[in-house]
Amino acid sequence: MKKKIKVMSVFGTRPEAIKMAPIILGLQSDHHNFTSVTVVTAQHREMLDQVLNIFNIRPDYDLNIMHKQQSLEDITSRVITILGPILEKEHPDIVLVHGDTTTTFSAAMTAFYHSIAIGHVEAGLRTWNKESPFPEEMNRQLTDTLSDLYFAPTSQSKANLLKENHSAENIFITGNTAIDALNQTISHNFHHQVLDVIDPTKKMVLVTMHRRENLGMPMRQVFYAIRRVVRDNPEVEVVYPVHPNPKVRMVAKDVLGDQPRIHLIDPLDVIDFHNIAARSYFIMTDSGGIQEEAPSLGKPVLVLRDNTERPEGVAAGTLKLVGTNSNKVEIAMQELLEDKSKYDRIANSVNPYGDGKATQRILQAIAYYFHLVGNAPMAFQPNP
Ligand code: UD1
Ligand code: UDP
Repeated sequence: MKKKIKVMSVFGTRPEAIKMAPIILGLQSDHHNFTSVTVVTAQHREMLDQVLNIFNIRPDYDLNIMHKQQSLEDITSRVITILGPILEKEHPDIVLVHGDTTTTFSAAMTAFYHSIAIGHVEAGLRTWNKESPFPEEMNRQLTDTLSDLYFAPTSQSKANLLKENHSAENIFITGNTAIDALNQTISHNFHHQVLDVIDPTKKMVLVTMHRRENLGMPMRQVFYAIRRVVRDNPEVEVVYPVHPNPKVRMVAKDVLGDQPRIHLIDPLDVIDFHNIAARSYFIMTDSGGIQEEAPSLGKPVLVLRDNTERPEGVAAGTLKLVGTNSNKVEIAMQELLEDKSKYDRIANSVNPYGDGKATQRILQAIAYYFHLVGNAPMAFQPNP
């Protein structure tokens, strides 16, 4: 009988869970080729559990590491210490990690210590700036240094990996699994209570913000701009699901807490978030994943950062880098609210990030790497 490949997927935060969920479900349903072992570090607790519940994923191991004031050292050391013995016991053929969190890097490092092959989902994204995003840029560079198999979402991310001399035969252009997940969550009969309190004729702006380098003054500056725009434009309502980090919550409540057209709510589960995003007028965020999803939904995004590892969306016109300067953010918001023809151009640009078949390509690439199938997957190409 043919040997099955034992694939251990390790992830710990909300975005990793959303983008790994389609892969876990794919591995579990292909009994013929794969044995799937799911390990969560729970670097996030509540936000991770929301995603696990939605996709009905029951982890085989839960490292349960989250602390309310966790440092990067806490996360790194706990993941390495607790994951090591699990790798020793399970001996997977390959460990899959996703993206650029501290869970990603620490799990890759632990797999390396145990001489286990590493597959990096969402490989090759780069800003080439060590400080921004911090520490994600180094997490992804270090993870790629440790990896054996690369699932690059776009041709640009493959080009970045080639520049670092990673072997072309182990790089597969797959599209981003965020789009696979999005295809499962959008619904026409969607309802959420926050929509009950918003006049449907108003322009709803959806906001998220959590990056470490934006904590403190940059975040405050953005919130001041939002406050002014809401004050000056009675047709605008803001929905902001606030990240549970106490450093984010405090500033959001302080600056935005008392304006009736600004709705500060708890993090939404992914079905609610995708559907509310689909009903928004535009999105303001420093999130990575949302930059990939918004083009699929035809929503312009003001990116609250000075750079991005997702330049494809900027080139396509959907993403605009506005940084965190209060005046610049205000001007960019006003422009989207006032210039309808510009808005329509952005909303109709192409989606460069995926076609919903990234999981299929990733599973085929793993099977190909381990000689279970003879053909590598065809590379993802965005529709012109
Ligand atoms: C992490 C990732 C970041 C990713 C983000 C997604 C790192 C270094 N950062 O940043 O790349 O963009 O997740 O959201 O890996 N908390 C809770 N409950 C939760 C989640 C977080 O209470 O479910 C609070 C805790 O107080 C925790 C704090 O948020 O200490 C920060 O969480 P942490 O994972 O360290 O950083 P994020 O900013 O979420
Ligand atoms: N998201 C969610 N609920 C929210 C906000 C975001 O489910 O209240 C989803 C969003 O659709 C995207 C992912 O979370 O898939 C992005 O996660 P986050 O912004 O936390 O991390 P990043 O992508 O910046 O690493």
